[in-house]
Amino acid sequence: MALAIRKLTNNLGAEIDGIDLTGPLDNAIVAELRSALDDYSVLVFREQDFKNQTQIAFSTQFGPLENMLYKREGDGNQPISNITNVDRHTDEIYPTGHSRLTANTGNELWHTDSSFKPVPALCSMLSGREVPPIGADTQFATCRAAYEALLEAEQLELEGLVAEHNYAWSRSQVPGYVPPAETLAQVPPVRHALVRTNPGNGRKNFYTGAHASHIIGWPVEKGRKFLKELVARAAQPEFVYTHKWRQYDFVIWDNRCVLHRATAYESEKYRRVMRRTTVAGTGPTIDESVTLSGVA
Ligand code: OGA
Ligand code: MN
Repeated sequence: MALAIRKLTNNLGAEIDGIDLTGPLDNAIVAELRSALDDYSVLVFREQDFKNQTQIAFSTQFGPLENMLYKREGDGNQPISNITNVDRHTDEIYPTGHSRLTANTGNELWHTDSSFKPVPALCSMLSGREVPPIGADTQFATCRAAYEALLEAEQLELEGLVAEHNYAWSRSQVPGYVPPAETLAQVPPVRHALVRTNPGNGRKNFYTGAHASHIIGWPVEKGRKFLKELVARAAQPEFVYTHKWRQYDFVIWDNRCVLHRATAYESEKYRRVMRRTTVAGTGPTIDESVTLSGVA
């Protein structure tokens, strides 16, 4: 069966209609979805009435899931995370100034999920359970089309570089947020290749974002500036898709090659309840590039 795929922009994103992901799916369909993710980087589905169990069951068909990094209000160590301003114990919006609301604003930095882990995520899957009537869009920026738009000399400059990704660094950029020491202890800095190659289609991209701190072997400030400049390249309008959520939307994005960020909304007025599953990556990014280019 060929899926009904409609491109959302020239450079990334596709909407796929006429499929219900909440029930059993043939392996052939899952393979088509995986290949569509390789091609389009962001997949949008409407009217997917997921519950946690059905979302986990669907997501697992893409590979093993990551567990949440840390315990937040007692909901840690599960393969599904709550991206929300609603306290699930009281079913009320968190009170003004609550640390969870401050922590949520960290998602407004361009980032790629779990790049602070030694094996970063393959893709994330976000289900819109309750969405505000205005604001709270999610934006996606393709680091593949942005890489392809670089001059050849600029692409060569990136080749072989390694960046340090560090959760403590990225959280230090979130005004007013102090992560628990227990969390920081779980995530020492890691290193990733700056240029990644999609093993399915061979297309390259740069790999940066809020967790990327600096370039190994360069003065720290020079590397920071360089990594930020790459983010700015990807964040140009022609490389961005802005998703306006409807209830029951389900969006899958390829963390290997797109950045994403949340946008602001009136979080003290409107409820927002999202659930995210995250498919684990298959190996370290540096080995990945070594294997693909065939050099030791
Ligand atoms: C995430 C994320 C953005 C949003 O779930 O990883 O960054 O708009 N979400 O909620
Ligand atoms: Mn995220």
